[in-house]
Amino acid sequence: MRKSKKLIVHQEKYDKEYQNATLKLLYERASCRQFSDQRIEPEILKKILKAGIHAPTGGNLQPYSIIKIEDADTTQRLAEMCEQKFIGEAPVNLLFCIDWHRLKQWSKIEKAPFSAMSSFRHFWISFQDTIICAQNICTAADSLGLGSVYIGTIIEFLKETKAMFRLPRGVLPVVLLCLGYRKARPVVRRKLDVETIVHNERYHELKGHDLVTAYNEKYPNVKIEITEKRLARIKEVCNKVHGHEFAQKCLDKIEENGYISIAQQYFGLHYSADLLPDGNEDFLKSIEDCGFGWFKKYQLPEES
Ligand SMILES: Cc1cc2nc3c(=O)[nH]c(=O)nc-3n(C[C@H](O)[C@H](O)[C@H](O)COP(=O)(O)O)c2cc1C
Repeated sequence: MRKSKKLIVHQEKYDKEYQNATLKLLYERASCRQFSDQRIEPEILKKILKAGIHAPTGGNLQPYSIIKIEDADTTQRLAEMCEQKFIGEAPVNLLFCIDWHRLKQWSKIEKAPFSAMSSFRHFWISFQDTIICAQNICTAADSLGLGSVYIGTIIEFLKETKAMFRLPRGVLPVVLLCLGYRKARPVVRRKLDVETIVHNERYHELKGHDLVTAYNEKYPNVKIEITEKRLARIKEVCNKVHGHEFAQKCLDKIEENGYISIAQQYFGLHYSADLLPDGNEDFLKSIEDCGFGWFKKYQLPEES
């Protein structure tokens, strides 16, 4: 059958923009926070999970585990804990964990030496392995018409998560992923362009006007309204982190612009620069409680 002219024109536009269906899928990817009631058929879920565990992994070791969560009560608890309602609406939640426990047990049986939980290198690579596996799962889900969103907030609740899912030592939660059929197509968000992110041959620093332009193109016309509460908070954050003089410069800039800029909102109000470094010690303690000891001056004794 011959293609109509309209179809050919459409195909040409499609080819020019996307080249192929995989690129289209990747360019149009967006986090989904509205899930329909439709359950995910087990065979579909298995196909998606298989795409994840087929991802590249350092030394082909696969030092990770995924907790598949479908139980409504557990899902609801996670939603309340992370204060994100849509977690409870996703038919499946996947908890991605670094897992050296399984390899440790295998080594034990095989009488192989094992010190991975005391090694930063192993930790670092296994963290990457876990995320790459997760992202393959997102893409596979997308390709089958499902949607997903990562929940990073889970790392605030390592202790609770460890208890909820009975994680043994050597298993460390990294990120949660809500998965389900989309209620509506999520909006595709703007990103920095290739020229900003990719440096030819060596690092080229974007400065002044070029830097601001790159971000303005990503966040066109985003102007956060000035309120007394926001001003007071941003002043407090600036004072604590960079002192009085800087705080005044920040307030002057806000006055001059007539709005709070997106950078000021991100680091002054949302991810408050004064509070974020505070939790470091607690995080390290939680990571240690999960059995990892590479960041200590001394190495944790390996359990035999
Ligand atoms: C590691 C990680 C953690 C995230 N945590 C959350 C989260 O806790 N809640 C949420 O709604 N979105 C979360 N997101 C989704 C981001 O907000 C989202 O990817 C970003 O705003 C860009 O939007 P897009 O994915 O639609 O392009 C997370 C994404 C990543 C990669």
